[in-house]
Amino acid sequence: MEYGPAPESQKEAQAWLDQKGRQFGLFIDNAWSDAGETFASNNPADGKELAKLTQATGDDVDRAVAAARRAQPGWQGLGGHGRAKILYSIARLMQKHSRLFAVLETLDNGKTIRETRDADLPLVARHFYYHAGWAQLQDEEFANHRPVGVVGQIVPWNFPLLMLAWKIAPALAAGNTVVFKPAEFTSLTAMLFADICVQAGVPAGVVNIVTGDGRVGEAIVNHAGIDKLAFTGSTEVGRLIRQATAGSGKKLSLELGGKSPFIVFEDADLDAAVEGLVDSIWFNQGQVCCAGSRLLVQESVEERFLNKLRARMDNLRLGSPLDKSMDIGALVDPVQQQRIAGLVESARSEGCTVYQPAGCQIPADGSWFPPTLITGASTSAAVAQAEIFGPVLVAMSFRTPPEAVQLANNTVYGLASCVWTENISLALDVAPQIKAGVVWINTANQFDAACGFGGYRESGYGREGGREGMYEYLVPVSEDARPAAPVLAAPAKAKAAPAAADAFAIDRTAKLYIGGKQARPDGAYSRAIHGADGKFIGEVGEGNRKDIRNAVEAAHKATGWTKATAHNRAQVLFYIAENLAARGEEFAARIGAMTGAKNPEKEVQAAIERLFYWAAWADKYDGLAHQPPMHGITVALNEAIGVIGIVAPNESPLLGFISLVAPAIAVGNRVVVVPSEAHPLSATDLYQVFDTSDLPGGVVNIVTGSADELARTLASHSDIDAVWRHDGSAEGCAEVERLSAASLKRTWTGGAKGRDWYSTAQVGGRAVLAHASQVKNIWIPYGV
Ligand code: NAI
Repeated sequence: MEYGPAPESQKEAQAWLDQKGRQFGLFIDNAWSDAGETFASNNPADGKELAKLTQATGDDVDRAVAAARRAQPGWQGLGGHGRAKILYSIARLMQKHSRLFAVLETLDNGKTIRETRDADLPLVARHFYYHAGWAQLQDEEFANHRPVGVVGQIVPWNFPLLMLAWKIAPALAAGNTVVFKPAEFTSLTAMLFADICVQAGVPAGVVNIVTGDGRVGEAIVNHAGIDKLAFTGSTEVGRLIRQATAGSGKKLSLELGGKSPFIVFEDADLDAAVEGLVDSIWFNQGQVCCAGSRLLVQESVEERFLNKLRARMDNLRLGSPLDKSMDIGALVDPVQQQRIAGLVESARSEGCTVYQPAGCQIPADGSWFPPTLITGASTSAAVAQAEIFGPVLVAMSFRTPPEAVQLANNTVYGLASCVWTENISLALDVAPQIKAGVVWINTANQFDAACGFGGYRESGYGREGGREGMYEYLVPVSEDARPAAPVLAAPAKAKAAPAAADAFAIDRTAKLYIGGKQARPDGAYSRAIHGADGKFIGEVGEGNRKDIRNAVEAAHKATGWTKATAHNRAQVLFYIAENLAARGEEFAARIGAMTGAKNPEKEVQAAIERLFYWAAWADKYDGLAHQPPMHGITVALNEAIGVIGIVAPNESPLLGFISLVAPAIAVGNRVVVVPSEAHPLSATDLYQVFDTSDLPGGVVNIVTGSADELARTLASHSDIDAVWRHDGSAEGCAEVERLSAASLKRTWTGGAKGRDWYSTAQVGGRAVLAHASQVKNIWIPYGV
């Protein structure tokens, strides 16, 4: 039986473009500017021009930011219900005009109408509904938070309207105003959305849309009037944005690339897995950040599975995206077609086998690429590591579940993954071991507004959707109450170890603490520590790059801590508190000598209480079970980030140290800590407390020395997952952020401000836990 053509009408969409004169200016303050310098937006399926768009200038971006700034207080002041009504109105209008949007998206992007109509548009409407709900509940559910302010949002071309919804809905719900930039290839549905905003009663200046290429993106990124940036796109540009915003205080969320594994175990329903794979890698021509582009199939079923897959590929239909029976549409632009072809050719020349269905007819015009399967690639081959962003699957095999996990994690990315097996116990054993923000069990490419989406590692940070997605657009009000960082006297200069004759001085030299053991600094230097009265009170090791490397290695080995039960971690934190209390007087005397504090007992008491506080949280920071619109659940787990480098504050040297280390280890991270440079001795006194508190070696590693130098090493280290710096050094914090871009580490920095370390509002609660953890969503459908 043959398929007949089933074209969707494009009449309405073409009429809308005609009505707009096929030329668009910018949408600022609810008004359209005249078109400026323009560029063409083409239909990828036939290469024909659809309309002309304006390349915004720096002045245009200034105007858009100013409009957003003016509108922000009013929009916030409208209140949750006021905003909810408008978001609801947008959702209704999107549903009403969904066919027009779907056709326009297909014309502009080249993706099939089946996808725009059945996937993109329903999800867009769902996003606005869901966030109308959060606006309504904001006062209750996000008490003590305020909107960030003016948000810059930059999206790619693969899901133009869906990414717009993911960005704009939560930002508006939380009371922010936005300057939004669609991708230069695909701006038309954003232009239509501007009309919807006006119809829905969005006040002027709340949504501003500027078009153009990366230069417009750069102008938004660098604009001083922007408080937060939300970016989706390539890892390369994500890195540039992290570097450009270092030290600016702009909040940042990055949703970047991926090379997601699709794991098929031998007991999987192979036919269902083939269908899942079709959805995973050929959905949207593989131009999906979370595409299952790496097939890992168990050796015992490899041949059978690949035979089934090739047979299915032979039946995939490629052609006019507006034809309702097409599976595969056009690529967004010839540039992408050439890029993909280049990568496939390089695989072929390296000896890989490339399979493409013989009967796949490529239309004469436009940009297309046939569904492609590559076998025989080594794990290090470019096609196995690089994000191809096209309909190209690379297949490899594995023998055992541990090998599957190892191969799955053999990537710098960590966006998504699929696990196919009929054995739920195996699936739920493997899911937490995969370093990715999303795990789909026996399903693929499922999304919902209630379930956060976002990456681990070089796939970026921050989440879109869910409660965690709302926090990206909010700031705890306690942040506004932070004091200025205290100004400290310059720390004493490092000096060579004292002469052997000075036996007492040698006794007083605190070593480093690495892997649960005291370790001499690699450079065999120490630095003198002086008390508040200027007197010499001890020496600490002068840690260097090698010491940090050793400490990171020890932290990586302490994986047992992350796997330990939360109850176990809570107990250890309670023990630390108990053992600290037992030596409270000694610690108080030390703090008094170092800082000259009048009432040092108070700091010790607060540190003990803080340990109790995080012990209490350790086994209560539960995840969630979402019930998205499917027959199944999505389990959102709060997972440890991994190894965190911490630079502790100078003020409240014991309390500050404990306030950062305790939440990090409470949720299962291992840490490498640089204690206060000026007052390190109460941290080095903790070694014995840790040793007697059942804290496994390697969970907390302490390297004393120059905060700047050690922070630099931590931020440059490729095996550290996050760096926190809170010693009041604005320049130092900026440097950490800049250096973190290389491996896209998460950062939590205090900038030039200090914190009231006694205030739970400023150094406690879920905001701190969010810095210490990342959410993994595991989708578990029922009855499949
Ligand atoms: P891109 O990352 O360059 O573009 C994404 C958005 O960022 C666009 O709106 C673009 O105008 C803007 N942009 C570009 N340079 C910028 C800068 N310096 N500052 C601020 N904004 C900037 O992605 P592109 O060039 O469209 O695609 C290249 C490759 O990136 C693709 O082949 C694919 O591998 C990857 N990609 C990944 C995406 C994902 O969702 N993971 C999405 C799009 C592309």
